[in-house]
Amino acid sequence: MHDATQRKDSAAVPAPALEWMTDPAPARVTCCTRSETPSVGFGSCSTGLQTSVRISRFRDPTATDPRRPSVAIIADLDETPIEGSCVLQPEFALGDEGRFLIRLLCPPKTRFYGTGEVAGPLRRNGRTTTLWNTDSFGYDIETPSLYQSHPWVLGLRDDGSAFGLLIDTTGRCEINLDADIGVAAEGYAPPVYLIEGGSPQDVLEALAGLIGTTPLPPLWALGFHQCRYSYGSEHEVLEIAEQFRERWLPCDTLWLDIDYMDGLRSFTIDPHRFPDVEKMVAQLRVWGFRTAWILDPGIEVDPEDETFASGELLDVFVRSQEGERFEGEVWPGRCAFPDFMNADARRWWGDLTARFVRRCGADGVWNDMNEPSVFDGPGRTLPVDCVHHADPELGGPGTHARYHNIYGMQMARASREGLLRERSDRRPFVLSRSNFLGGHRYACCWTGDSTSTWEHLSWTIPMMLNLGMSGQPLAGCDIGGFADNADDMLLARWMGIGCLLPFARAHSDKNTNRHEPWSFGHGCEHACRLALERRYRLLPYTYTLFAQAEQTGLPPMRPLFFADPSDPSLRDAEDSFLLGRDVLVRASVRLDNVCESPMPKGVWRYFEPAEQSDDNLPRLLLRGGAILPMGPIMQHTGQWPLDPVTLVVSLDAAGEAEGVLYEDAGEGFGYREGEYLMTRYVAQREGKHLRLWIEGAEGERARPLRVAEVVVLLDDGEAVRATGVGGDVIRVLLG
Ligand code: GLC
Repeated sequence: MHDATQRKDSAAVPAPALEWMTDPAPARVTCCTRSETPSVGFGSCSTGLQTSVRISRFRDPTATDPRRPSVAIIADLDETPIEGSCVLQPEFALGDEGRFLIRLLCPPKTRFYGTGEVAGPLRRNGRTTTLWNTDSFGYDIETPSLYQSHPWVLGLRDDGSAFGLLIDTTGRCEINLDADIGVAAEGYAPPVYLIEGGSPQDVLEALAGLIGTTPLPPLWALGFHQCRYSYGSEHEVLEIAEQFRERWLPCDTLWLDIDYMDGLRSFTIDPHRFPDVEKMVAQLRVWGFRTAWILDPGIEVDPEDETFASGELLDVFVRSQEGERFEGEVWPGRCAFPDFMNADARRWWGDLTARFVRRCGADGVWNDMNEPSVFDGPGRTLPVDCVHHADPELGGPGTHARYHNIYGMQMARASREGLLRERSDRRPFVLSRSNFLGGHRYACCWTGDSTSTWEHLSWTIPMMLNLGMSGQPLAGCDIGGFADNADDMLLARWMGIGCLLPFARAHSDKNTNRHEPWSFGHGCEHACRLALERRYRLLPYTYTLFAQAEQTGLPPMRPLFFADPSDPSLRDAEDSFLLGRDVLVRASVRLDNVCESPMPKGVWRYFEPAEQSDDNLPRLLLRGGAILPMGPIMQHTGQWPLDPVTLVVSLDAAGEAEGVLYEDAGEGFGYREGEYLMTRYVAQREGKHLRLWIEGAEGERARPLRVAEVVVLLDDGEAVRATGVGGDVIRVLLG
């Protein structure tokens, strides 16, 4: 497991005396200075600051390291010229049990964030995270490892400037955050990337430069999703769909959990409970529903089974140290595990996925249990000495110890690539439970098997924020909590928050109370309907944020301190967050319905996107100086195009505001060839009037002729409205 051969003259290195070494001449150093001129569209979502970002790559000067860069990195700094260097300097040493230690001494009062999928407080000082993907049903804040690994820490200095440390290893690794950063890595001495920037936003944009950005999801994926373990028959699925439509509860996607399968085997469909999935899916389409289907990696060992037999023939399964096929228990029984590190195995999986979605008409794919979870395996996974026939680009053949943390990521990659081969004109949508830094390029994620408690609800916002600050912005949780029973209050509150998260899916475990919005009576259903209506009304804005995120890497959901990184009072806010720069969400995660976070300085005005407000929903505020594009209430995204478009205006102290709206086909890749429209709206107070007009646009998509409704938020809490058509200048009498 501990591969000390990666270290030059390892025998000669004095053992654990903890001699810290700084790299005298960092392997490669680069300094990039970007100046951002606000443009009409994509660029205007950036921080707008004159930014200076430094990125350096460091490694243990005594280590030879043939394993870099890892799969997370798409831009290897070694290709770039040496121009400058970071101020902070990591130090390297050898620790106990052959572990490789890294220490970064940080400025006093540094606050830490990131480290991926972690439960508990937003700020990670005083916390240890072990990066080792683990099936963690019912986890809590003491659980050291959840389903995904992100070897990345974001540091916020007291003055509001920031830095980030990326530890470039796929192996097991422990990150200790206190006043400084301490890392203990197993297997080999990982190089690290250090990014220093003027603000946390700068650092995250630079991180995205290294690991890539999140591809724009199809529009429907940003709608609402309903799931349960499991909707167990075609009849039940259709009944749920009907309920949503009859009750006017907006929803885009229904999810099929493992009970649709025949004997819980991936790529099969139970012929009795799901005799005609094509017909079911066609009916759902008529009602405006999509479907997403679960596919688990464990393939039952059964020579009669087509999937297993084809895998055997192609030799795609993971082998033990002794060369035997490894077998372990998962849902269907004794299973073999595809070796997703290998291109042939990924191709085989991708082709099976493609054939499966063709057969059942699935829109999305859900990859679960891919840590991988092995019920009777050591630590509930594959033995660390199992062997992977990894591609040379991933690092070549190696043990599971080395590849464990990217098993789920490579599975998601195989699924995405299969979907792309099958439907090159559609944006693939994959949800994956397990993942790794950089895996946002392949899949959306959710936070696994939470519990229906107020405590779990209170971890939701910080978990999403830390994932977003770790390069995984497209994320959600099981709305209502997975295990145990929610009640009306908890579900209403969770729905209120969940509908404002990047990915919104309600899900619950077998044998729990039903958690659909109507399960707890009228009051809860009403609150859920308003929460859902808000999500759909805000979609033009959130979709714009995702289009911008593909360009910049900035997460659409952001911590409150992004509003003012220099304000210390905002740094621990866990029940408030920002959507982009302009919308502030003040939620309550407690029964007593109190939001504890402070407000950032400046003008913020309350607004309500739904028809009515409800005490169980978070309160929403719009930044002074912003124009927020909204759509009409709709039942699913198939009801676009956007007409009317509503422009909510919150003027700044100078009486001005601006905002952008991104539109495209909602599907496919035409937008990458210019088939989009990014419109910049500007508003100005002129005496007793407000004048709003289109200042400019980007992209080749034609602007539809439609009604624009303008809502101006006033200081006394009231709003005034006016309407206009197309690109007209709209004048609103402010009263
Ligand atoms: C795992 C997943 C859960 C799913 C269940 C059955 O526990 O985390 O979401 O419902 O397996 O497939």
